[in-house]
Order: sequence, then structure tokens, then C-alpha cells
Amino acid sequence: MTDSWTAERMPECADRTILITGANSGLGFEATSAFARKGATVVMACRSTERGERAATEVAERVGPTGATLDVRECDLASLDSIASFAAAVRSDYDGLEVLCNNAGVMAIPRSETEDGFETQLGVNHLGHFALTGRLLPLLLDTGGETRIVTHSSGAHTIGEIDFEDLQREDSYGKWEAYGQSKLANLLFAYELQRRLEDAGIEDTKSVACHPGYADTDLQFRGPRESGSKLRYAAVRVANALFGQSAERGALPLLYAATAHSVEGGAYYGPGGLLNMRGPPERQSSNEASHDLTRAERLWAKSEELTGVQYDIDGRGR
Ligand SMILES: NC(=O)c1ccc[n+]([C@@H]2O[C@H](COP(=O)([O-])OP(=O)(O)OC[C@H]3O[C@@H](n4cnc5c(N)ncnc54)[C@H](OP(=O)(O)O)[C@@H]3O)[C@@H](O)[C@H]2O)c1
Repeated sequence: MTDSWTAERMPECADRTILITGANSGLGFEATSAFARKGATVVMACRSTERGERAATEVAERVGPTGATLDVRECDLASLDSIASFAAAVRSDYDGLEVLCNNAGVMAIPRSETEDGFETQLGVNHLGHFALTGRLLPLLLDTGGETRIVTHSSGAHTIGEIDFEDLQREDSYGKWEAYGQSKLANLLFAYELQRRLEDAGIEDTKSVACHPGYADTDLQFRGPRESGSKLRYAAVRVANALFGQSAERGALPLLYAATAHSVEGGAYYGPGGLLNMRGPPERQSSNEASHDLTRAERLWAKSEELTGVQYDIDGRGR
């Protein structure tokens, strides 16, 4: 479908404000560079403003003068307070927000908890983005023209199950099971949000999901680093060099989902090449569990309860 689709084919973004989490590293960094090349105002939501500023300087050097604005702000997705202050500041400083990219993530790390006591992979990857999206949705809905929420999932959603009896994985923790759960949660959330927007008759705001295939970023190294496993670290280095595509290529499905004209609400985009691990972006399907309405509604209700962020999409509390 998108054989030759590259970031150069993105529309001009001079009149757009695009907010991306995890903007300082990997796919977020590459996406920020691509948005900046097209002149966007990019709100770089980073857990460390020091790392964010360093990344912004590098993006500006790479991209040159395009009229883009890079606005680095602190947003720690492992803290509901940080998310609330960040979103409040964005809502007060910006009149419009065209695209929200829920990109930041952690993968296969030893068990830990966020500031609010959530298992970190679920807390950062899903619950943090659920809270952030809920807090920014009024701004997205009030922005004139088409707006989008893009959520980064992974092929690893297929190994995930939502364990409602032990959502925080206190009884039994497997680092991959927890990652899979969080990435399945990303999809259940993205599709359920689209259904709720449609039920409320909202056509101008779309919720879309994507995955990057396999890209060589810091994501794969954090687990071995945190567990102190030099062997796993070395193995990741070899695997990434052999099988990973560049972060620049890995960012294409996100860029496509965020900007391409033909993107449909509720769709899932990923690389169409070998084993869907590399290649140009195309529309793909995710597994049956990700489309399960009962799971989606239950997870939504649980996410509202845990984060304290209530969505009011149709003005009637739903
Ligand atoms: N790379 C792949 O092959 C691959 C495959 C499937 C899916 N994905 C998905 O792609 C997304 C981006 O990953 P990546 O490959 O670009 O990894 P990355 O290079 O490790 O970047 C992850 C970003 O998330 C940020 N982050 C981590 N914890 C955070 C927190 N508590 N609050 C705010 N930001 C936080 C990191 O900030 P710090 O730099 O401060 O840690 C970093 O900016 C993730 O959602 C991941 O699940 C990637």
C-alpha cells in the first residue's frame, strides 16, 4: 500500500502542534526530527528535561532552520501528579493540539512500581498514557480541523493477556508477560477510544494505533541494564545489529499514523516487510484479544478507577 512511503512524503506541519512522549530517544527522537523537518511545533514530553534539551539541540542541529519550534517539557509517565501538571500547563499554554503521540515506553524490565504503586510497564506504557490522553482530550476536541491520538503498541501484544485478577502482577511477575500485557492494553485503549469517539458522533478526532516492527533503540538495553546482566546486554547488541532496522525507519509507522491523509480511525499500522519487523508502513491487523469489547470496557473502567482520570467524550460522562 505504502511502498515508497518515507518521511519526506509527510504533509507540511507548519500550522500543527504535535505532542510526543519519550521524545528524547529512539523512535520518539526520530519522529521529533521528522516533524521538525516539516516545520511543526513539537512539544517534547520527556521524563528528564536535561535529556530532552540535549535531544532538542541535536534535532535543531540535524534539521536546520525550518521554522519548527521545539518545546521541551517534563512529563514523567510514572507519576500521575507529573502527568496532571504537565497536561494542565499544555492546556493553558496552547490553543490547539493537532496530534498526540503516545510513544514512550519501557520493555522487559525487572519488576518495579511507579510513584502511584502501578507495575511500571503497565503504569508507564498504558496507565500513564491513558491519564495523559484523558487530560489532553478536551484540547484535542476543541482544536479546529482534524486531530489525532496515535498510540505506539508492539507485535508483542500477541504474547499479552490482561490479568484482571492481578493487573499489577504482584502474585507472579514475568517481564515479557508484563510487557505483552501493557502493549495489548495500548491496543484495547486505542480501539475503545475510537469507538467512544464514534459513539459520540465525533469525526474530527481519530484514535489510531501503530507498531515499529523491530528497531535498534535503547528500549532493548534497559532491561539488561537494570538487571545487571552483561550477557543479555551483549546478546541484545548482537540481535539488534543483525535484525533491527534503524530507529529512523522504525519511526515510519508512527509518522504515517500521525500525518498521512488516508489514515482511518481505529486502524493499526506497522512495517510491511519481512515478518512485519521492517519495511514501509502499511495497514495491518492485530490479534483477536485486542478487539475484544468486554476486555476493552473492563480495562477502561479499571484505568479510570486507578488513574482517577474520567473521560467525558460526549458531555454525559462517557
Ligand atoms: N524499538 C522497538 O523495536 C520497538 C518494538 C515494538 C514497540 N516499540 C515501542 O516504541 C515505543 C518507543 O520505544 P523506543 O524503541 O524508541 O525506545 P527508547 O529509545 O528506549 O525510548 C523510550 C522513551 O520512553 C521514555 N520513557 C521511559 N520511561 C518513561 C517515563 N516514566 N516517563 C516518560 N517517558 C519515559 C524514555 O525516556 P528516558 O530516555 O528518560 O528513559 C525514552 O524517551 C515504546 O512504546 C515501545 O514499546 C518499540
